[in-house]
Amino acid sequence: MNRWLSACRLLPLFAALMLVLSGCGEPYLSTLDPKGPVAESQFTLMKLSIYIMLLVCAVVFSIFAYVLIRYRKRPGQDGIPKQVEGNTKLEIVWTVIPIILLLILAVPTVKQVFYLAEGPSGDEDALKVKVTGYQYWWDFEYPDLGIRASQELYIPTGKKVYFEVTAKDVIHSFWVPALGGKVDATPGLTSNLWLQADEEGVYAGKCAELCGPSHALMDFKVVAVSPEEFDDWVAKMKAASAEPTSGAAQQGEKLFKQNCLSCHAVGKEGGPVGPVLTNVADRVKIAGILENNKENMEKWIANPQDVKPGNKMPAFGKDVNPEGLTQEEISALAEYLSTLSVRE
Ligand code: CUA
Repeated sequence: MNRWLSACRLLPLFAALMLVLSGCGEPYLSTLDPKGPVAESQFTLMKLSIYIMLLVCAVVFSIFAYVLIRYRKRPGQDGIPKQVEGNTKLEIVWTVIPIILLLILAVPTVKQVFYLAEGPSGDEDALKVKVTGYQYWWDFEYPDLGIRASQELYIPTGKKVYFEVTAKDVIHSFWVPALGGKVDATPGLTSNLWLQADEEGVYAGKCAELCGPSHALMDFKVVAVSPEEFDDWVAKMKAASAEPTSGAAQQGEKLFKQNCLSCHAVGKEGGPVGPVLTNVADRVKIAGILENNKENMEKWIANPQDVKPGNKMPAFGKDVNPEGLTQEEISALAEYLSTLSVRE
Protein backbone atom coordinates (compact mmCIF):
# COMPACT_ATOMS: atom_id res chain seq x y z
CA MET A 1 0.00 0.00 0.00
CA ASN A 2 2.87 2.33 0.92
CA ARG A 3 4.62 1.65 -2.35
CA TRP A 4 1.38 2.39 -4.20
CA LEU A 5 1.09 5.70 -2.36
CA SER A 6 4.64 6.76 -3.16
CA ALA A 7 4.03 5.92 -6.83
CA CYS A 8 0.95 8.16 -6.71
CA ARG A 9 3.08 11.00 -5.43
CA LEU A 10 4.84 10.99 -8.83
CA LEU A 11 1.56 11.70 -10.64
CA PRO A 12 1.81 15.51 -10.40
CA LEU A 13 5.34 15.24 -11.81
CA PHE A 14 4.09 13.28 -14.82
CA ALA A 15 1.20 15.70 -15.27
CA ALA A 16 3.67 18.63 -15.27
CA LEU A 17 5.94 16.75 -17.69
CA MET A 18 3.00 16.26 -20.07
CA LEU A 19 2.27 19.98 -19.97
CA VAL A 20 5.91 20.85 -20.63
CA LEU A 21 6.29 18.31 -23.44
CA SER A 22 3.09 19.45 -25.12
CA GLY A 23 4.94 22.75 -25.63
CA CYS A 24 7.44 20.91 -27.86
CA GLY A 25 6.96 20.97 -31.61
CA GLU A 26 6.53 24.47 -32.97
CA PRO A 27 4.90 24.26 -36.40
CA TYR A 28 8.19 25.09 -38.17
CA LEU A 29 10.02 22.44 -36.09
CA SER A 30 7.64 19.52 -35.88
CA THR A 31 7.51 16.15 -37.59
CA LEU A 32 3.81 16.12 -36.61
CA ASP A 33 3.02 19.08 -38.89
CA PRO A 34 4.61 18.05 -42.21
CA LYS A 35 5.24 20.78 -44.82
CA GLY A 36 6.43 18.69 -47.75
CA PRO A 37 5.98 15.27 -49.41
CA VAL A 38 8.91 13.60 -47.61
CA ALA A 39 7.75 14.65 -44.14
CA GLU A 40 4.18 13.79 -45.19
CA SER A 41 5.07 10.22 -46.18
CA GLN A 42 7.13 9.71 -43.03
CA PHE A 43 4.27 11.02 -40.90
CA THR A 44 1.81 8.66 -42.64
CA LEU A 45 4.08 5.68 -41.81
CA MET A 46 4.36 6.86 -38.22
CA LYS A 47 0.56 7.06 -37.91
CA LEU A 48 0.08 3.63 -39.50
CA SER A 49 2.49 1.94 -37.08
CA ILE A 50 1.04 3.76 -34.06
CA TYR A 51 -2.54 2.77 -35.01
CA ILE A 52 -1.48 -0.88 -35.40
CA MET A 53 0.36 -0.72 -32.07
CA LEU A 54 -2.72 0.75 -30.33
CA LEU A 55 -4.95 -1.96 -31.82
CA VAL A 56 -2.57 -4.73 -30.65
CA CYS A 57 -2.32 -3.17 -27.16
CA ALA A 58 -6.11 -2.84 -26.89
CA VAL A 59 -6.72 -6.48 -27.88
CA VAL A 60 -3.92 -7.94 -25.72
CA PHE A 61 -4.82 -5.92 -22.61
CA SER A 62 -8.54 -6.71 -23.00
CA ILE A 63 -7.84 -10.45 -23.15
CA PHE A 64 -5.40 -10.09 -20.25
CA ALA A 65 -7.98 -8.29 -18.09
CA TYR A 66 -10.69 -10.82 -19.00
CA VAL A 67 -8.45 -13.76 -18.07
CA LEU A 68 -7.38 -12.13 -14.78
CA ILE A 69 -10.98 -11.68 -13.69
CA ARG A 70 -12.58 -14.78 -15.18
CA TYR A 71 -9.96 -17.25 -13.87
CA ARG A 72 -9.03 -15.59 -10.57
CA LYS A 73 -8.79 -17.74 -7.46
CA ARG A 74 -12.19 -17.92 -5.75
CA PRO A 75 -12.85 -18.59 -2.03
CA GLY A 76 -13.14 -22.26 -1.27
CA GLN A 77 -11.23 -23.26 -4.38
CA ASP A 78 -8.44 -25.76 -3.77
CA GLY A 79 -5.51 -26.95 -5.87
CA ILE A 80 -4.55 -26.11 -9.43
CA PRO A 81 -7.39 -26.00 -12.00
CA LYS A 82 -7.42 -28.22 -15.09
CA GLN A 83 -4.44 -27.38 -17.37
CA VAL A 84 -4.78 -27.06 -21.14
CA GLU A 85 -1.76 -27.78 -23.34
CA GLY A 86 -1.55 -27.19 -27.08
CA ASN A 87 -4.41 -25.83 -29.17
CA THR A 88 -3.67 -25.96 -32.89
CA LYS A 89 -6.45 -23.54 -33.84
CA LEU A 90 -5.29 -20.88 -31.33
CA GLU A 91 -1.65 -21.28 -32.32
CA ILE A 92 -2.47 -20.79 -35.99
CA VAL A 93 -4.51 -17.68 -35.14
CA TRP A 94 -1.76 -16.02 -33.13
CA THR A 95 0.85 -16.79 -35.78
CA VAL A 96 -1.20 -15.59 -38.73
CA ILE A 97 -2.39 -12.31 -37.19
CA PRO A 98 1.14 -10.92 -36.59
CA ILE A 99 2.17 -11.99 -40.11
CA ILE A 100 -0.76 -10.01 -41.54
CA LEU A 101 0.10 -6.99 -39.35
CA LEU A 102 3.75 -7.14 -40.43
CA LEU A 103 2.71 -7.25 -44.09
CA ILE A 104 0.45 -4.21 -43.59
CA LEU A 105 3.50 -2.39 -42.13
CA ALA A 106 6.13 -3.73 -44.52
CA VAL A 107 4.52 -3.06 -47.90
CA PRO A 108 4.11 0.74 -47.55
CA THR A 109 7.40 1.04 -45.61
CA VAL A 110 9.46 -0.63 -48.35
CA LYS A 111 7.59 1.41 -51.00
CA GLN A 112 8.43 4.66 -49.15
CA VAL A 113 12.07 3.64 -48.68
CA PHE A 114 12.47 3.41 -52.47
CA TYR A 115 10.49 6.63 -53.04
CA LEU A 116 12.66 8.55 -50.55
CA ALA A 117 15.88 7.13 -52.01
CA GLU A 118 15.10 8.43 -55.51
CA GLY A 119 18.04 10.30 -57.03
CA PRO A 120 18.00 13.17 -59.52
CA SER A 121 18.87 10.87 -62.45
CA GLY A 122 17.22 11.99 -65.65
CA ASP A 123 16.09 15.29 -64.14
CA GLU A 124 18.31 17.75 -66.01
CA ASP A 125 17.40 20.86 -64.03
CA ALA A 126 17.18 19.20 -60.62
CA LEU A 127 18.40 21.49 -57.86
CA LYS A 128 21.39 19.99 -56.08
CA VAL A 129 22.91 21.19 -52.83
CA LYS A 130 26.08 19.95 -51.16
CA VAL A 131 25.66 20.12 -47.41
CA THR A 132 28.76 20.09 -45.19
CA GLY A 133 28.60 19.99 -41.41
CA TYR A 134 31.30 21.68 -39.34
CA GLN A 135 31.62 22.21 -35.57
CA TYR A 136 29.13 24.02 -35.23
CA TRP A 137 27.74 25.40 -38.48
CA TRP A 138 26.45 24.27 -41.86
CA ASP A 139 27.68 25.06 -45.34
CA PHE A 140 25.44 24.88 -48.41
CA GLU A 141 26.98 24.82 -51.86
CA TYR A 142 24.88 24.93 -55.05
CA PRO A 143 27.36 23.30 -57.48
CA ASP A 144 25.30 23.92 -60.63
CA LEU A 145 24.60 27.54 -59.73
CA GLY A 146 28.13 28.42 -58.62
CA ILE A 147 27.16 29.86 -55.23
CA ARG A 148 27.83 29.07 -51.60
CA ALA A 149 25.79 30.11 -48.59
CA SER A 150 26.04 29.12 -44.95
CA GLN A 151 23.66 28.61 -42.06
CA GLU A 152 20.53 29.51 -44.05
CA LEU A 153 19.54 27.24 -46.91
CA TYR A 154 17.40 28.90 -49.58
CA ILE A 155 15.20 26.58 -51.64
CA PRO A 156 12.32 27.15 -54.06
CA THR A 157 8.89 25.83 -53.06
CA GLY A 158 7.26 22.94 -54.90
CA LYS A 159 10.54 21.55 -56.20
CA LYS A 160 12.57 18.50 -55.18
CA VAL A 161 15.96 19.49 -53.80
CA TYR A 162 18.64 16.79 -53.84
CA PHE A 163 21.21 16.91 -51.07
CA GLU A 164 24.67 15.40 -50.84
CA VAL A 165 25.47 15.47 -47.16
CA THR A 166 28.93 15.19 -45.66
CA ALA A 167 31.05 16.64 -42.81
CA LYS A 168 34.59 17.94 -42.37
CA ASP A 169 35.42 17.22 -38.73
CA VAL A 170 33.17 14.85 -36.76
CA ILE A 171 29.84 13.15 -37.46
CA HIS A 172 26.83 15.49 -37.54
CA SER A 173 23.28 14.81 -38.69
CA PHE A 174 21.22 16.96 -41.07
CA TRP A 175 17.59 17.24 -39.96
CA VAL A 176 14.73 19.55 -40.93
CA PRO A 177 11.84 18.10 -38.91
CA ALA A 178 9.01 19.84 -40.79
CA LEU A 179 10.41 18.77 -44.20
CA GLY A 180 11.76 15.29 -43.44
CA GLY A 181 15.02 13.56 -42.80
CA LYS A 182 17.31 12.95 -41.11
CA VAL A 183 20.62 11.77 -42.52
CA ASP A 184 24.11 11.51 -41.01
CA ALA A 185 26.81 13.92 -42.15
CA THR A 186 29.95 11.79 -41.94
CA PRO A 187 33.51 12.91 -42.80
CA GLY A 188 34.75 11.16 -45.95
CA LEU A 189 31.32 9.83 -46.85
CA THR A 190 28.45 11.30 -48.85
CA SER A 191 24.85 10.52 -47.93
CA ASN A 192 21.96 11.37 -50.22
CA LEU A 193 18.53 12.70 -49.45
CA TRP A 194 15.87 14.80 -51.13
CA LEU A 195 13.42 17.21 -49.54
CA GLN A 196 10.71 19.50 -50.80
CA ALA A 197 8.85 22.39 -49.18
CA ASP A 198 5.31 22.99 -50.38
CA GLU A 199 4.74 26.22 -48.44
CA GLU A 200 6.90 29.32 -48.22
CA GLY A 201 8.39 29.84 -44.79
CA VAL A 202 11.38 29.49 -42.52
CA TYR A 203 11.87 25.96 -41.22
CA ALA A 204 14.21 25.15 -38.38
CA GLY A 205 17.01 22.68 -38.98
CA LYS A 206 18.92 20.83 -36.29
CA CYS A 207 22.08 18.82 -35.93
CA ALA A 208 20.80 15.48 -34.68
CA GLU A 209 24.07 13.77 -33.76
CA LEU A 210 26.00 14.55 -30.58
CA CYS A 211 29.07 16.34 -31.98
CA GLY A 212 30.60 18.32 -29.11
CA PRO A 213 29.82 20.87 -26.40
CA SER A 214 27.74 23.07 -28.72
CA HIS A 215 25.84 20.26 -30.47
CA ALA A 216 22.52 21.56 -29.16
CA LEU A 217 23.33 25.01 -30.59
CA MET A 218 24.16 23.77 -34.11
CA ASP A 219 20.96 25.13 -35.64
CA PHE A 220 20.30 26.22 -39.19
CA LYS A 221 17.29 27.47 -41.15
CA VAL A 222 15.65 26.42 -44.39
CA VAL A 223 14.17 29.46 -46.12
CA ALA A 224 11.60 28.29 -48.68
CA VAL A 225 10.70 31.04 -51.17
CA SER A 226 8.73 31.11 -54.44
CA PRO A 227 10.69 29.89 -57.51
CA GLU A 228 10.82 33.48 -58.89
CA GLU A 229 12.19 34.81 -55.61
CA PHE A 230 14.71 31.97 -55.53
CA ASP A 231 16.02 32.83 -59.02
CA ASP A 232 16.29 36.44 -57.93
CA TRP A 233 18.18 35.40 -54.78
CA VAL A 234 20.61 33.26 -56.84
CA ALA A 235 21.30 36.16 -59.24
CA LYS A 236 21.96 38.55 -56.36
CA MET A 237 24.19 36.06 -54.50
CA LYS A 238 26.25 35.69 -57.69
CA ALA A 239 26.58 39.43 -58.14
CA ALA A 240 27.32 40.23 -54.48
CA SER A 241 30.68 41.72 -53.54
CA ALA A 242 32.46 42.74 -50.35
CA GLU A 243 32.11 46.47 -51.15
CA PRO A 244 30.03 48.28 -48.54
CA THR A 245 26.91 50.05 -49.71
CA SER A 246 27.04 52.88 -47.17
CA GLY A 247 29.79 55.26 -46.09
CA ALA A 248 29.30 54.50 -42.41
CA ALA A 249 30.41 50.93 -43.00
CA GLN A 250 33.69 51.78 -44.70
CA GLN A 251 35.82 51.59 -41.54
CA GLY A 252 34.20 48.22 -40.82
CA GLU A 253 35.00 47.04 -44.33
CA LYS A 254 38.69 47.82 -43.83
CA LEU A 255 38.72 45.92 -40.54
CA PHE A 256 36.81 43.06 -42.13
CA LYS A 257 39.39 42.71 -44.91
CA GLN A 258 42.24 42.76 -42.35
CA ASN A 259 40.74 40.41 -39.79
CA CYS A 260 37.96 38.27 -41.24
CA LEU A 261 38.28 37.79 -45.00
CA SER A 262 40.99 35.12 -44.73
CA CYS A 263 38.41 32.74 -43.19
CA HIS A 264 35.02 34.09 -44.30
CA ALA A 265 33.95 34.58 -47.91
CA VAL A 266 31.81 37.42 -49.22
CA GLY A 267 30.78 36.90 -52.83
CA LYS A 268 33.80 35.60 -54.70
CA GLU A 269 36.36 36.97 -52.24
CA GLY A 270 37.57 35.40 -49.03
CA GLY A 271 38.58 32.10 -47.48
CA PRO A 272 36.70 28.83 -47.11
CA VAL A 273 37.34 28.16 -43.40
CA GLY A 274 34.27 29.79 -41.81
CA PRO A 275 30.67 30.43 -42.80
CA VAL A 276 30.02 32.46 -45.96
CA LEU A 277 28.91 35.99 -45.02
CA THR A 278 27.63 37.23 -48.41
CA ASN A 279 24.09 37.60 -47.04
CA VAL A 280 24.77 37.64 -43.31
CA ALA A 281 22.47 40.64 -42.79
CA ASP A 282 19.53 38.61 -44.18
CA ARG A 283 19.95 35.83 -41.62
CA VAL A 284 17.16 35.16 -39.20
CA LYS A 285 19.75 34.27 -36.55
CA ILE A 286 23.40 35.02 -35.85
CA ALA A 287 25.48 31.86 -35.36
CA GLY A 288 22.24 29.92 -35.78
CA ILE A 289 20.84 30.89 -32.37
CA LEU A 290 20.95 34.65 -31.58
CA GLU A 291 18.43 37.22 -32.85
CA ASN A 292 20.05 39.04 -35.75
CA ASN A 293 20.75 42.53 -34.44
CA LYS A 294 23.83 44.72 -34.05
CA GLU A 295 24.15 44.16 -30.32
CA ASN A 296 24.24 40.37 -30.72
CA MET A 297 26.67 40.63 -33.63
CA GLU A 298 29.06 42.64 -31.45
CA LYS A 299 28.65 40.12 -28.63
CA TRP A 300 29.45 37.28 -31.04
CA ILE A 301 32.56 38.96 -32.51
CA ALA A 302 33.87 39.96 -29.07
CA ASN A 303 33.64 36.48 -27.56
CA PRO A 304 32.19 33.63 -29.65
CA GLN A 305 33.08 31.05 -26.97
CA ASP A 306 30.57 32.68 -24.69
CA VAL A 307 27.79 31.98 -27.18
CA LYS A 308 28.88 28.65 -28.66
CA PRO A 309 31.53 26.87 -26.56
CA GLY A 310 34.11 24.95 -28.57
CA ASN A 311 33.62 26.74 -31.90
CA LYS A 312 36.68 27.65 -34.00
CA MET A 313 36.13 31.41 -34.33
CA PRO A 314 38.76 33.47 -32.46
CA ALA A 315 37.63 36.10 -29.96
CA PHE A 316 38.16 39.76 -30.95
CA GLY A 317 37.15 41.49 -27.70
CA LYS A 318 40.09 43.16 -25.92
CA ASP A 319 39.05 41.68 -22.57
CA VAL A 320 39.49 38.14 -23.92
CA ASN A 321 42.16 38.72 -26.55
CA PRO A 322 44.65 41.55 -25.77
CA GLU A 323 45.53 41.75 -29.49
CA GLY A 324 41.88 42.07 -30.42
CA LEU A 325 39.79 45.06 -31.45
CA THR A 326 38.42 47.99 -29.48
CA GLN A 327 34.69 48.22 -28.80
CA GLU A 328 34.53 50.99 -31.41
CA GLU A 329 36.17 48.78 -34.04
CA ILE A 330 33.88 45.84 -33.24
CA SER A 331 30.93 48.17 -33.60
CA ALA A 332 32.22 49.30 -37.03
CA LEU A 333 32.60 45.65 -38.08
CA ALA A 334 29.03 44.90 -37.00
CA GLU A 335 27.87 47.99 -38.90
CA TYR A 336 29.60 46.73 -42.05
CA LEU A 337 28.16 43.19 -41.64
CA SER A 338 24.67 44.69 -41.38
CA THR A 339 25.07 45.97 -44.96
CA LEU A 340 25.78 42.51 -46.42
CA SER A 341 22.33 41.75 -47.75
CA VAL A 342 20.92 40.43 -51.03
CA ARG A 343 17.24 40.84 -50.09
CA GLU A 344 15.33 44.06 -49.62
CU1 CUA B 1 26.74 18.79 -35.15
CU2 CUA B 1 25.55 17.86 -33.32
